[in-house]
Amino acid sequence: MNKITELKQEELRTLRNQVRAEYEDFRARGLALDMTRGKPSPEQLDLANDLLALPGRGDYFAEAGDDNRNYGLLQGLPEARGLFSKTIGAPVDRIAATDNSSLALMHDCIVWALLKGVPGSTAPWSQTPTPTFICPVPGYDRHFAICEEFGIRMVTVPMTGHGPDMDAVESLVADPTVKGMWCMPKYSNPTGEIYSDETVQRLASMRAGAPDFRLFWDNAYAVHHLTERRHEIANILDLCESANHPDRPFVFASTSKVTLAGAGVSFFASSAANLRWYLARAGKRTIGPDKLNQLRHVRFLKNQEGLHRHMDAHRALLRPKFEAVITALDSRLAGTGVARWTRPEGGYFVSVDVLEGTAKTVVDLARKFGLALTPAGATWPYGRDPQDRTLRLAPTFPPLQDVRDASEGIAICILLAAIEKLCAS
Ligand SMILES: Cc1ncc(COP(=O)(O)O)c(C=O)c1O
Repeated sequence: MNKITELKQEELRTLRNQVRAEYEDFRARGLALDMTRGKPSPEQLDLANDLLALPGRGDYFAEAGDDNRNYGLLQGLPEARGLFSKTIGAPVDRIAATDNSSLALMHDCIVWALLKGVPGSTAPWSQTPTPTFICPVPGYDRHFAICEEFGIRMVTVPMTGHGPDMDAVESLVADPTVKGMWCMPKYSNPTGEIYSDETVQRLASMRAGAPDFRLFWDNAYAVHHLTERRHEIANILDLCESANHPDRPFVFASTSKVTLAGAGVSFFASSAANLRWYLARAGKRTIGPDKLNQLRHVRFLKNQEGLHRHMDAHRALLRPKFEAVITALDSRLAGTGVARWTRPEGGYFVSVDVLEGTAKTVVDLARKFGLALTPAGATWPYGRDPQDRTLRLAPTFPPLQDVRDASEGIAICILLAAIEKLCAS
């Protein structure tokens, strides 16, 4: 299609009638589709059903002899930490394995930092002026919700295609009120970006104004590849150590989108000092994690090869869904000048930038024909996208045919919203 942004008013009005008719046809189909949240589909969850019978009666001892049915092992089962050590990029003794949610770990680390401070703090964060986090945008709404919940100020930096804009980050982080930064280094939510080696190196070596500045390194999609290429990123723990900032990164990961989203294992990895800090706090809130769940993960995934084989099975289910989204956007919107979209090689989302000022209208148009999309603005702090431009599409959960229908519908809504705006201007 030709660039819509260059059409004359008369041509625009003709096109508007045509796209409105398509929209009405679509609405008449009475669809009920949901592309709001990045959840695994039932078929993905089925891949891990064998977990439900593990470890089985009589299999409850750790290799070192601990009885996993009992309290204890606050740092988690060593063999579970060993299984994920390579993926996390940390030795077994620098990892804590715990219960089902890495988001809960991030939440706890922030609360503890606010109340107690972290290694290197001269005071708890809550007793310092306007504790602030750097938030690359678009980003993950639940990260921003934690900051909002606890009154942490958020300053945004744009993503560039290979991670956050590092010139902007380096300038912001010199301010001592900046205590933290959200990072999703691989297949970032929602842009799918992979941080380049240079980005990771600069994050590790930059000069921070706050001596207790932390990178919240949420590696949620470490093994969630959508192509045969298993992308690797630079090791933030090693690079920070070499740059003399060993305590800078808090690394998080989980098996939520590897095995069962509600019943996985989560991980925290960091320097020796940070790990001691974490365990001292964690030991007040629990006597130990669910080690039987950790054991069943070890029995089920077995080793690194088993983990990759399992993720290949996810990929086989997910790839056609992502292809359906990209194909619909390519065929309806390429060359129109009213949208651009990502082509992720991993992770759970496609991010679409529509004509400025039309994202909310697109979500509204979609809702009216029975398609629920993530609210416009959700990928920005406080839900406010200043350019009303970014849409996050989550194709993993619905069945493939629904994803096809929804993607076609989204493309029509994007077109219609853009044409209506251009006609009015
Ligand atoms: C970037 C990111 N981090 C964390 C999570 C949640 O992880 P968990 O299930 O381990 O709490 C998600 C879920 O969508 C996510 O996208």
